[in-house]
Amino acid sequence: MKRVGDLAIDLGTANTLVYQEGKGIVYDEPSVIAMDAREGDVLAIGEEAWEMIGRTPSRIVAVRPLRRGAITDYDVTSQMIRLIFRRVGVTRFARPKALICVPSAITEVERRAVRDAATSAGARAVSLIEEPMAAAIGAGLPVHEPLGNLIVDVGGGTSEVAMVSMGGIIAMRSLRIGGFDMDEMIQRHLRRAYGVAIGERAAEQLKMASGSAYPVTGVGSARIKGREIATGMPREIEVMPEEVREVLTEPVVAVINATKGCLAESDPELGQDVLEAGMFLTGGGSLLRGLDTLLAHECEVPVHLTDSPLQTVVLGAGKCLELMTQEAGLFGGSPWLR
Ligand SMILES: Nc1ncnc2c1ncn2[C@@H]1O[C@H](COP(=O)(O)OP(=O)(O)OP(=O)(O)O)[C@@H](O)[C@H]1O
Ligand SMILES: [Mg+2]
Repeated sequence: MKRVGDLAIDLGTANTLVYQEGKGIVYDEPSVIAMDAREGDVLAIGEEAWEMIGRTPSRIVAVRPLRRGAITDYDVTSQMIRLIFRRVGVTRFARPKALICVPSAITEVERRAVRDAATSAGARAVSLIEEPMAAAIGAGLPVHEPLGNLIVDVGGGTSEVAMVSMGGIIAMRSLRIGGFDMDEMIQRHLRRAYGVAIGERAAEQLKMASGSAYPVTGVGSARIKGREIATGMPREIEVMPEEVREVLTEPVVAVINATKGCLAESDPELGQDVLEAGMFLTGGGSLLRGLDTLLAHECEVPVHLTDSPLQTVVLGAGKCLELMTQEAGLFGGSPWLR
């Protein structure tokens, strides 16, 4: 039987990444599928599906099968995983093991949904790893040492803060809040303040262009095209960076409070380690300008950004996969996995 390398999968609310044993990252695309609403057929996944939105007949709809880190549409998720598997060489005769990253706060039912979706898509065996643990490993932290490692992962639908030590999660805070909520807040604000409706992609672009968590230099205003709600006519507005910062306050404060809470709940010695080594900020949301500065300021702890924040989790899970293959007996038996 042809062997296909085992897979580590970060099934994120915003982006899905796959790491293949021996190869590295082989798939990195938005968690979106395009469906024919009438027939229920899946037409495209990832980037291609994302590009179809708004440019195709109205019966083609884009679906994000995950929300707030959890599967909302089981069938769509397993179809998406099946198509991803096919792309990376999985067939009926070459079925890999899959190590899937999940938010630490998901329920038992949600865990089962992830396992079942991957199994029905063709995985031979499925293990789960908690995202903050994968993130800490991906960030290169010494997770096995008796030291406190604090990792903050701000994603699209979830934000998780975890204190990791001696191979386990000692304390954690999990919020079902992330970058998508920031986009939604921007949309709501423009609707209220200017009577202008913009799409979610435009809101995300505005966040990336003019968003910040803390006053930083080099962020300019942004011009954004929308539709005037009263007349239905196109309208362009200019939005100032201070205004966007104000709009983003709530989710930003939630992340800060979660980080403070996690620090406060941890053993003082672990907190002391973090004070010395600093905490690590990752996930796409870590790219929000000034979030690191504000977090450092508020928690009085140095903050480091990871190199490839959108890939940290899958790289960490990939590292586990490679280790597990080396020590074959470990698969399923590791304390990181459930
Ligand atoms: N430059 C940027 N500034 C602000 N936010 C950004 C930037 N780049 C990406 N993001 C946001 O990061 C989020 C995606 O991050 P990521 O891929 O880590 O999430 P995810 O892992 O798919 O989601 P989750 O972990 O919540 O399930 C999106 O909301 C996106 O808008
Ligand atoms: Mg994530």
